[in-house]
Amino acid sequence: MADKPQPTYLKDYVPYPFEVERLDLEFDLEPHHTRVLSRARYKRKEHVDVEEPLRLNGAGQTLLSLSLDGTPLTALDYRCQDSGLVLPNVPNAFELTVVTEIDPEANKALEGLYLSSGNFCTQCEAQGFRRITYFPDRPDVMTRYTTTIRADKQRFPVLLSNGNLVEQCDLDDGRHLTRWEDPFFKPSYLFALVAGDLVCQEDAFTTMSGREVLLQIYVEARNADKCDHAMLSLKKAMAWDEQRFGFEYDLDRFMIVAVDDFNMGAMENKGLNVFNSKYVLARPETATDDDFLNIESVVGHEYFHNWTGNRITCRDWFQLSLKEGLTVFRDQEFSADMNSAAVKRIEEVRILQSHQFAEDSGPMAHPVRPESYVEINNFYTMTVYSKGAELIRMMQTLLGRDGFMAGIRLYVQRHDGQAVTTDDFVAAMEDASGVDLDQFRRWYSQAGTPVIHVEQHYDGERQQLTLDVTQSCPATPGQPDKQPFHIPLRLALLGPDGTPQPLHLVNESGQQGAEELVLSVTAARQKFCFEQVGEGCVVSLLRDFSAPVKLTMNTSRDELAFLMAHDNDAFNRWNASQRLAGGLLLDLVDRVRKGQKLILEPMFVEAFRTSLLDEQTDPSLLALALALPLESFLAEQMEEIDPQAIFTAREFVRHEVAVQLKDDFLTVYRRCADSGPYEVTPQAVGQRRLKNLCLGYLAALAPQDNMIWQMILEQFSTGRNMTDVSAALGLLADHDNRDSRHALDTFYATWKEDPLVVEKWLGIQARSRREDCLEQVERLMGTPAFNLHNPNKVRSLIGVFCQGNSVRFHAADGSGYDFLRRQVALIDPFNPQIAARLVAPLLRWPRYDDTRSALMKQALEQLQAKTTLSADLYEMVSKGLDQNKKG
Ligand code: TRP
Ligand code: ZN
Repeated sequence: MADKPQPTYLKDYVPYPFEVERLDLEFDLEPHHTRVLSRARYKRKEHVDVEEPLRLNGAGQTLLSLSLDGTPLTALDYRCQDSGLVLPNVPNAFELTVVTEIDPEANKALEGLYLSSGNFCTQCEAQGFRRITYFPDRPDVMTRYTTTIRADKQRFPVLLSNGNLVEQCDLDDGRHLTRWEDPFFKPSYLFALVAGDLVCQEDAFTTMSGREVLLQIYVEARNADKCDHAMLSLKKAMAWDEQRFGFEYDLDRFMIVAVDDFNMGAMENKGLNVFNSKYVLARPETATDDDFLNIESVVGHEYFHNWTGNRITCRDWFQLSLKEGLTVFRDQEFSADMNSAAVKRIEEVRILQSHQFAEDSGPMAHPVRPESYVEINNFYTMTVYSKGAELIRMMQTLLGRDGFMAGIRLYVQRHDGQAVTTDDFVAAMEDASGVDLDQFRRWYSQAGTPVIHVEQHYDGERQQLTLDVTQSCPATPGQPDKQPFHIPLRLALLGPDGTPQPLHLVNESGQQGAEELVLSVTAARQKFCFEQVGEGCVVSLLRDFSAPVKLTMNTSRDELAFLMAHDNDAFNRWNASQRLAGGLLLDLVDRVRKGQKLILEPMFVEAFRTSLLDEQTDPSLLALALALPLESFLAEQMEEIDPQAIFTAREFVRHEVAVQLKDDFLTVYRRCADSGPYEVTPQAVGQRRLKNLCLGYLAALAPQDNMIWQMILEQFSTGRNMTDVSAALGLLADHDNRDSRHALDTFYATWKEDPLVVEKWLGIQARSRREDCLEQVERLMGTPAFNLHNPNKVRSLIGVFCQGNSVRFHAADGSGYDFLRRQVALIDPFNPQIAARLVAPLLRWPRYDDTRSALMKQALEQLQAKTTLSADLYEMVSKGLDQNKKG
């Protein structure tokens, strides 16, 4: 590459030398030639050198004119560079007017102002505003915006921007105008504009102080009947945020717009959230239970940003987790309160353990507050989001709910209207609670997943149990050595019948006799001794997953089976089932690799049967406990990953369990049959999950077992909701026969006009166990169902194949790697964000056998050799290649 993109460092942060007192924007919208006028008042900050130039970011636009306090500037007055404008001689206070022209129609990066299904929309986070006009595009520059929009009235009857609507009128030539005023100071990444032919569903919410807020969801006319669930979710989120956090909405209206072309999930623009339509639109016939639940959580997430992100924002992008970690934590708590807390917690941890842990042990490993980045878009990661949320949760655990809430109140009181750091957040928590979080801060600065090892020693004579706890953290790029973390370790001791025993910690004052304790593990090695411990107690550790660590402990399979059946912590019951099944599967993987005979231990089948037939427990919890550990979770625990052996071992267990428990699966399947209208209640969702789990195991016997095959076909054709229909279709699509082909064809014929359902259809085929899956994926790419410019389509076909179909993607001949390389090379020139996300699986090359790793590495090298590479992809590829293979 000609000039390598350079990293930005946290240590180089300097405040912006000017204040921006206000910003007025005017848009004359035309798909190919949009004119943007921006008028900003700048004021040099006190103590800033008069020589300091004004620097504005800007890219991908034509500068038409520039004037200062009304006087046009000439080319001698400024320098126009690739990355923006520099004005060397500016007064201490002045108004700068910039007129530029942009081409939204040609914008396929979906960053800045672009068109989706013929409608205008914007995406400014993180640095998209600079593609709209020249401005200090950084989150610590906050100002008040007014936005005037002019466009053809017939084609674009709806014209929206942030804040409150203050003017609306018709113009000549069939054009019309709206003007919006946002009374709140905001950074440029929260700016939004939408213009198009949209219909709107309206509702209202009365806030706790009695203000009435207009709620609007804008969608294309064909989707008008799919907004009820999002609206209901929004009202629940608004009420919940008042009750739980005391946060009230602050504008007269709150708008959501659904668009089909979107790089991420959704965006929290002030008063005007823009959503990937996947997280808005739902009807039982088109959306699955998980879709309904995701909509609730994403609508909540974006709404919650209004306080955690918008009112209080980030000083710089290294502080991204300030808003994202905290807001994910808030949306998790919201979903937990609306549904089942235990189920929600298990789902979070499952994703964290399989995906965030993998990120933390790979070449992209970075602290929750990164120290440097080449392209900030590459840092919207599981680490910043999910691990960041775990840090907030740990603070709540260490401070208690009341202490934590006092911290939140102090944080808002101190920083409302400011752009701050994660350190400011932790300081507010400390100051409000008096708890010392000095060592805790290392969670923000050190990358990698800590490993806690616990040795237990029981002294029957003294009735004492000693836990010998050691912690360590593997090296990550740029961080060879780590200091010990402050780890909250929640624990209980369970008696032989499962009841928690009173805890007596030697040398401890308060809290004696409690049934559960949070130990503060702070040293590299530490011992905890409990007294009055009876014979046969079992330790339940890391309850509710009190810290994002890997726990290793000498727990026997019998103890795991005991915890799986008796632990009163639902998370730990699930975790025991995963540890038990995980251990067993890893043994089987080993046997597959050695060519040994596979046998399934009878104790596992019995434990499985006991859970399956449990009619007391929440069926969602059962479905989670009975699901085999994810391939990615098993892979993460192997020194050298063998995708084929993992697949074979899992398929063996699935088949064996199905053979041995066929009748039980049939019984439970029939018991869980749906009756009555579709509802998204925890009970109904749980029944469908358990039912489809049973069908999934039974399918291991089909199509040879014709009775089972007919059952699947029956569910496919008579299912009354997308959850049941798509579950059945997924099982049919694992085979290549007349029934399967017919089912896939009928499904497509029914839904070809509905992009979100077509995406499910693509995803199902990309996940298929069929050996010729890649061939099918390539064939589908050539059909009208696919579109390389639409991120959802790319994710559901290419993304699912490469990240969700490990055994086929990792085909030993390297065909999967070559396929991914070609797609990434095609996408990078027009959408770098998507290309960089897609390439991630190739970065794991050092973890595979010599043949695979050489092929994966070769694919990366071929990408690196390209003459033009976006900064996004360059960063991923070069970090991927900057690794050595162990052994
Ligand atoms: N702030 C958004 C969220 O998490 C994330 C987001 C939406 C985003 N669109 C983006 C991040 C584009 C980077 C680029 O709620
Ligand atoms: Zn967010």
